[in-house]
Amino acid sequence: MSTPQLDRLREHCHQLRLYQIEQEFTARLEQAAKKEISYADFLDQLLACEVDAKTHKHHQMRIAMARFPYQKTLESFDFKFQPSIDPKQIRELATGRYIQSGDNLLLLGPPGVGKSHLAIALGIKACEQGVRTLFVTATALITTLGKALAEGKLDERLKLLTQPQLLICDEIGYLPIDRQGANLFFQLVSRRYERGSIIITSNQSLGAWGEVFGDTVIASAILDRLLHHSITINIKGESFRLREKLKAGLLKPKLEAPATS
Ligand SMILES: Nc1ncnc2c1ncn2[C@@H]1O[C@H](COP(=O)(O)OP(=O)(O)OP(=O)(O)O)[C@@H](O)[C@H]1O
Ligand SMILES: [Mg+2]
Repeated sequence: MSTPQLDRLREHCHQLRLYQIEQEFTARLEQAAKKEISYADFLDQLLACEVDAKTHKHHQMRIAMARFPYQKTLESFDFKFQPSIDPKQIRELATGRYIQSGDNLLLLGPPGVGKSHLAIALGIKACEQGVRTLFVTATALITTLGKALAEGKLDERLKLLTQPQLLICDEIGYLPIDRQGANLFFQLVSRRYERGSIIITSNQSLGAWGEVFGDTVIASAILDRLLHHSITINIKGESFRLREKLKAGLLKPKLEAPATS
């Protein structure tokens, strides 16, 4: 193939934004000539490489827009370490069907049992399915809403937080929430109710949310909406962060085997 023709092909790819083909086509042309593959197979492989690259870029964009603090995957989650979690249930959640039905997911349990890991991993799966996702900690969320209220921009901010099909709100219960914060959180949950899914992680049982929100009436109104269409996973077990210490016998496991005699 002549150099002017190769340059023209490169230019066409560029104009059509087929950037992956632009990068790969010379190598692929050589391979195709060596292997004597059919025209149809050649075209098939060439277009597939562009589709793969575009899909990957799209996923990466969604993941960047979701603002995860770090990335975790379901593949790196050790289900054997946390037997109170049903892998089948997590695999079902990974299909994203709960998001299509607007269901919420509550991940509850003590520190280090994998709540944030699972929330982020499911969020990444959602991004890969083209779901608009946003990750935020409860503290940052309430601070943002309080600031928006002070600036007279609450409605605008609530609208923005209603747009993602999946909102992940991490760490409810670690820091106390004042009355205004509880009110603002209630407004957000109300806006998203039956419209978009929320994944919540909390170290507190639902019964303790009255204390977390400093008001049992608001807490039960929030829970009423969150739980109407929802899945709750109670993780009971040891902290993964402390597993090495547990293994080394430096700490006692929380769940002692029951005495047999
Ligand atoms: N079963 C697991 N398999 C692999 N890694 C795990 C598992 N459980 C937790 N981890 C890892 O342990 C660390 C703590 O987990 P994570 O942050 O998800 O805990 P958490 O339940 O959110 O705790 P906290 O309530 O303190 O926020 C993370 O690095 C996470 O990736
Ligand atoms: Mg966490």
